[in-house]
Amino acid sequence: MKKDILVGSNAYWVGYVDDRKVPFHRLVLEKGTTYNSYLLKTEMPTIIDTVDISFGKEYVENLKQHIALEEIKYIVINHVEPDHSGALPVLAAKAKDAVIVATELGVKELKEMYKLHNRQFLIVRDGDTLDIGGKTLKFLETPYLHTEETMVTYSVEDKTLYPCDIFSTHIATYELFNDLSAEDITGDFEVYYSLIMNPHKNYVQDMIKKIRQLDIEVIAPSHGYILRTDAKKYIDSYDNMSKTSESNRKAAILFSTMTSNTKKLATFIEAALTAKGIEAVLINVKEEKDVEVAKEAVLNSDILFFGSSTRYGDMVGKIEEVLKELNNMDLTSKVGVAFGSYGWSGEAIEIINDYLKTSTMKVLDSSLIIKSTGMDNVQAPIRVKFAVEEEVSKFKETVEVISDILAG
Ligand code: FEO
Repeated sequence: MKKDILVGSNAYWVGYVDDRKVPFHRLVLEKGTTYNSYLLKTEMPTIIDTVDISFGKEYVENLKQHIALEEIKYIVINHVEPDHSGALPVLAAKAKDAVIVATELGVKELKEMYKLHNRQFLIVRDGDTLDIGGKTLKFLETPYLHTEETMVTYSVEDKTLYPCDIFSTHIATYELFNDLSAEDITGDFEVYYSLIMNPHKNYVQDMIKKIRQLDIEVIAPSHGYILRTDAKKYIDSYDNMSKTSESNRKAAILFSTMTSNTKKLATFIEAALTAKGIEAVLINVKEEKDVEVAKEAVLNSDILFFGSSTRYGDMVGKIEEVLKELNNMDLTSKVGVAFGSYGWSGEAIEIINDYLKTSTMKVLDSSLIIKSTGMDNVQAPIRVKFAVEEEVSKFKETVEVISDILAG
């Protein structure tokens, strides 16, 4: 029988320490990591998150030392990525009657990933509670931290937060608790934040507002140290690191428009950037004199939006005269985004994007957004069909996410 590692009353760490150099999100975790899974041994025994898909067999064998697997009543999956849900199929095969608990999107993704047929799932929503016989679990949705389906679980009587990836550190520690660490963990904690959470800093702020309502004594994340002391310090640290500071970066939104829809879109982008603390200028490139002003703005700005309506499969107005000059400029420190409103195919937006790609600026498009944030639902270039007002709901989030990335 292995020694029990208690996180709280009847709450056990049942995870796995991975002391390899772990490949992860195009990085190598030189210090390894842990996959922290927890067993709440109540009248209705509950598992919170599992371990990486590579260690499912060892995980289940270890878990058997703590509990007969068929007694498990709930398996909570806070976050679907396979380093936490990977052992679910092998566990679920033994814990046949266990109900799998996740957000609505989490349940959908788990079904798609693991083909878990004839299983009972429980979809939980923001603020829902679950009585597991001796403890109460409260669930809070925390979308995009760091993927869309994520939530955190709070064990009310224990005052313990189980936030999965949030508040983690990547380190293969056998000490497991922050107060037992011989070294200051602040550096590893902050590096983890900047790599995984900072691209979603606005969502971090939303999460902080929610968990500030809870009385948290212990934070038990799913990688690295369990924060058994100074929980508030770590929450404050996320709060401070995710606050948007006043930006001193400047943006220029340069466009040509046919029916004013692209102008409305440009105005919307300007408002979104201003809301993020970025000073933006709007230039309608209609006449020759506007081309010179626009070229000057390109050189004086850090963030560049180029837009056009589409007419006969091409750009309108004088915007192309500005684009043709980009190859003669050093734009290496600048970021560019293409946009436009259109009626049929919107070729002008793609032609603008082609121009940006041949310049030395960094082009923010869907590919770059996926690689830098993991968000696969943000469309860039920004394309809006017909009237901007009618399409606002479709591109509003896109513009805000792009502004977030640019403000970061
Ligand atoms: Fe630790 Fe997002 O997985």
